[in-house]
Amino acid sequence: MIIDVALTPAAFEFGQTDGRVVVIDVLRAACTLITALANGADRIIPVASVEEATITAYSTDAADRARNSGTGGSPPDHLKCGERGGQRIEGFNLGNSPQEYTAEAVQGKTLIFTTTNGSDALLKALGAADVIIGSFTNLSAVVSRIRALTMDTTFLCAGEQGNFSFEDAVCAGMFVDRLGKSGKSEMTDSAEAARILYHHFRDDLSSLMRKTFNGKVLVGLGFEADLDLCVELDVFDIVPVFSDGSLTGQ
Ligand code: MLT
Repeated sequence: MIIDVALTPAAFEFGQTDGRVVVIDVLRAACTLITALANGADRIIPVASVEEATITAYSTDAADRARNSGTGGSPPDHLKCGERGGQRIEGFNLGNSPQEYTAEAVQGKTLIFTTTNGSDALLKALGAADVIIGSFTNLSAVVSRIRALTMDTTFLCAGEQGNFSFEDAVCAGMFVDRLGKSGKSEMTDSAEAARILYHHFRDDLSSLMRKTFNGKVLVGLGFEADLDLCVELDVFDIVPVFSDGSLTGQ
């Protein structure tokens, strides 16, 4: 099994691999999506733009209305979710803070989800045999899936508007470190570089988050608590799997 890390989205071409892609967006899309599915969201449809979210919501509306006919005005079964500039998009139900994705808010719902970097990275991975989301919060669950279903694996760092993000590279490095311990994998140079970066920062991930570009922006917007939530290790035993246009939890 070859383990690769695309340290920026530009390092990964659409259709580049027919193996597995693990999409990493530590701050904050990965944590938010994992939390939503762990708290009972039915499925999540990632879309690239705000416009596409609105169009998808219209078609989902029709399906909701058909399903709820005769139930006396039940609330819609779908929510529009996501951020631009870190803030909830106007007219959307939820933003991109994992704290918003409680069971009360999302249980049984279809989420239509768009963020600046995370949803684009996911869509870029379409066509790979296994497209999943990994982060600190579900690290061991993802490692177990990779070991159980062996295939070449690329960790795709969502980055920040095409650029390198420290937090994504360090998280990819932690995955590489764990997988390398089995001794059955071959690491590319970028995977090895990510692993070295992780070793450098592993004792204080919380402080690192506060030094990153994304971390500083989120602190400025009042989301400091999210930084700690996003680096908690193995809070969830769930792997979001992207298949047939939706993410579901496995
Ligand atoms: C993204 O997908 O671009 C990020 O998760 C942005 C954010 O933290 O709100």
